[in-house]
Amino acid sequence: MVDASSENKRHIALIGFMGAGKSCVARELAKRYGCDRIDLDDYIEERAGKSVTDIFQQDGEQRFRQMELDALRAALDYPATTQVKPKATIIACGGGTVTNPESLALLRQGAVIVYLAVQPERALARINDWTTRPLLTQAGSVDAVYALAQSRLALYEAASDISVNTDKRDIDEVADCVVTRLREAGYARLLA
Ligand code: S3P
Repeated sequence: MVDASSENKRHIALIGFMGAGKSCVARELAKRYGCDRIDLDDYIEERAGKSVTDIFQQDGEQRFRQMELDALRAALDYPATTQVKPKATIIACGGGTVTNPESLALLRQGAVIVYLAVQPERALARINDWTTRPLLTQAGSVDAVYALAQSRLALYEAASDISVNTDKRDIDEVADCVVTRLREAGYARLLA
């Protein structure tokens, strides 16, 4: 049952650990439904003129989380609310977006939050190059990455309106499941 507050949820945000497929599934959903798509990491990199890895190294994680919050604000405001029936924007969050309480609160207000769940071993198998993920490089070992994934689990689950297991599914299948779950949960209007 969709309550009155869910009427404010104009967008669809994908959350989950690194390697869950957020960027790919966002691209697929945007293609299928002709929606705009914003990938927070790409947005940050474009604005900053440097990679996420360089931002972590040169400015630190705290600064990155602030940039992520700014990117999220821009994504949730897009397109301008003056449009008669604005289409949902599909927002691919970073794996740690929901660790910032301010970002999480904004997301909750403005978007249906879809959690793409993935087993850490599968996530790591999908990520070829750890150097593009500073937190993986920092963790330094598979065990430390598993611990990071484990520490985020409850947060992802509590944040989400809908969750989809991605482990044995390809991008198309995950996108199909997301659409089914959105419809079941009363959010079909976001895809119309
Ligand atoms: C992060 C995940 C990354 C990126 C940054 C931090 C995290 O995004 O935002 O490296 O804290 O889990 P992806 O989940 O798209 O890899």
